[in-house]
Amino acid sequence: MQNQVMDAILTRSSIRAYKDSPLTAEQLDALKAAALASPTAMNRRQQRFVFITNKAVIAKLETATLESIKNSGNTAFYERILERGGQPLYAPPLIVLIFAADGRFAPVDAGIAVENLALAAKSLGLDSVILGMPAAALEGDDGAELVASFGIESGYSFMIGIAIGSRDTEKAPHESDPSHIIEIA
Ligand SMILES: Cc1cc2nc3c(=O)[nH]c(=O)nc-3n(C[C@H](O)[C@H](O)[C@H](O)COP(=O)(O)O)c2cc1C
Repeated sequence: MQNQVMDAILTRSSIRAYKDSPLTAEQLDALKAAALASPTAMNRRQQRFVFITNKAVIAKLETATLESIKNSGNTAFYERILERGGQPLYAPPLIVLIFAADGRFAPVDAGIAVENLALAAKSLGLDSVILGMPAAALEGDDGAELVASFGIESGYSFMIGIAIGSRDTEKAPHESDPSHIIEIA
């Protein structure tokens, strides 16, 4: 079957190294449209998408994430990140952070939006990795200042992020296990 959406779904994989090349304005506009086109429960749309292309801000978020992991006391995890280059967010040219107002379906809505972004990125010739890791820097009292610096209103919490850019490595998609499908015909 020739189908561009299916191609994007089936060829997407998590990429953890990016070229230092910025996205074009056209790519950024398309990604913003994809984020805003995401469906939300009861069409609530109480989401904020923070598009960060500023290298200094990406570096600050990366450092804050690493610091929080260090301070969490999970030494093995911290050392594994250091061994892999010490960049838990992979220094991409674009990070999108998704915040949402508290609500029963807020995490589901954010998951849908982040996959919209991942697939839109793939269809634009870009790659991505979904990032839960920024939570370490954005949650709790320590993260409040950084969150406020993004202009996020109170009542909105960090849900999920995504790194997007041109890949500087290869990774095959994960294996699909057909036994996870339960068919009731
Ligand atoms: C909710 C969620 C959070 C994730 N957070 C991270 C993360 O913080 N860092 C990371 O390197 N990968 C993260 N990933 C990527 C997963 O590890 C990856 O999707 C999984 O290993 C399957 O690989 P694939 O995406 O290449 O198919 C996350 C994925 C999801 C869905």
